[in-house]
Amino acid sequence: MTDGEDTPDAGESTAASGADGADDGADATGGTAIRRDRFSGGPARGFMSSLAADERIFAADLQVDRAHTVMLAEQDIVDDDDAAAILGALDDVAAAGHGELPGAEDVHEAIETAVIQRVGPEGGRMHTARSRNDEVATCIRYRLRADLFEALETVVGAREQLLDAAEAHTETVMPGFTHLQYAQPVTVAHWVLSYEGPLARDTERLLSAFDTTNQSPLGAAAFAGTPFDVDRERTAELLGFDGTVANSMDATSSRDFLVETTSALTTLATTLSGMAEDLVVYSGRDYIEISDDYASTSSIMPQKKNPDTLEIVRATAGEAQGALQRLLTTLKGLPRSYNIDLQEATPPAWTAVDSVPPALEVVTGALTTAEWHEDVLAAEAAAGFSTATGVADRLAMAGVPFRTAHEVVATVAEDLDPGQDAPAIDDLEAAAEEILGEPLTAYVDRETLEATLDPVESVAMRDSAGGPAPTAVAAQIDDARERLAVDEDAVAERTDAVATALADLESEVAAYE
Ligand code: ARG
Repeated sequence: MTDGEDTPDAGESTAASGADGADDGADATGGTAIRRDRFSGGPARGFMSSLAADERIFAADLQVDRAHTVMLAEQDIVDDDDAAAILGALDDVAAAGHGELPGAEDVHEAIETAVIQRVGPEGGRMHTARSRNDEVATCIRYRLRADLFEALETVVGAREQLLDAAEAHTETVMPGFTHLQYAQPVTVAHWVLSYEGPLARDTERLLSAFDTTNQSPLGAAAFAGTPFDVDRERTAELLGFDGTVANSMDATSSRDFLVETTSALTTLATTLSGMAEDLVVYSGRDYIEISDDYASTSSIMPQKKNPDTLEIVRATAGEAQGALQRLLTTLKGLPRSYNIDLQEATPPAWTAVDSVPPALEVVTGALTTAEWHEDVLAAEAAAGFSTATGVADRLAMAGVPFRTAHEVVATVAEDLDPGQDAPAIDDLEAAAEEILGEPLTAYVDRETLEATLDPVESVAMRDSAGGPAPTAVAAQIDDARERLAVDEDAVAERTDAVATALADLESEVAAYE
């Protein structure tokens, strides 16, 4: 039932053969390995094994074993010689790799068996004062943390690229749409910034998911604590966690950190799907030419250049949403405390961390390498009388109630010929005369009106905070850069803290060798 069993090499490596190879450890350990003689056979063993899928947490588990062993020795729960032998064996197991693990239900059992094979029965002291339940929860958090760092780096990097793209296009007018119909002219920069904003919020969501994830469940044992005098803060510190998940039942049973992470990534993927769709539309309308690196051709239609990579980005949202749904459905209604349904809750989170950041890289790459056809964009910016709101605004600024101004402009808009971008000033004047009972010039002179029909002027007028006018966009870019620098620091601070802790763990371990 695990994802890993579908992998092509599932039957080839010893590790992936699951419980079929479970006898491997029995001889060497003199029966001290987990009751594999009794619970290792039968048709359901492979069905419930997570060993192949656990490759993802193999390195994490070794680290968790190291930190736990160091703590056990510091607390005099195991003596230093046994700790040294266990730590030496763990290095050996690490060097051999996941593929060389003896068969077992999961990676935790397999590593323990491999340690006992090397050390003898004393190796079994490694599992004192813990359970696979707190162990796996710690491993997942440890590994997910690295994946979250990668996701954060990707989002922060994409924001930087988007801000550069915006800066290059503060004056490039383009049509803005509502309902995919010409609405009002904007600039390419303004459109780009409309996606940098959500990415900035995605950064906050991912940082929050990181902080929730980076808490240690270790020492909770099966769910009910342990009689041993464990130092949970110490293992948390050695593994670079910010603290512990205090309640031992919460520590082993809760997977809300997976939900938070998968949901943050799904939110991001959903934004990306819209961004990709915009680019697909723009390429179809010849506003942009996608770089060859992000396009494909047709096997039959020789003239075709398709924005295929962007369509995959669009579909990634479906993959992420499916993963989130799978995760939530797996967790729904689970009783306290540990249930092995939880084993099936982890793969969806891996799906999200594996699929969403690459999609972000692709859509950002496609956007920043695309050629923007400024002539087409400028011509289209005025299409469909998209300066109509600007004209109504002008009248309202001159004292006409906005609803009346709207009526004047709507009257001329109704009579436009198909394909006609803007009304003649004479027609506007006639409509004003009819509705206002006064000549238009009583409010706005002809020259100002004509300027208002120009999309460049229409953009420049809308200089309210957050608007598309180049001055307003420049301010948005400045703010966004400041926010980005703060977020870069937040990521670096966390990366450094984890790296420092792991270096300390390494020297603690080395002291036993
Ligand atoms: N492999 C399991 C998981 O991923 C951990 C094992 C706990 N199993 C158990 N029966 N208590 O969640």
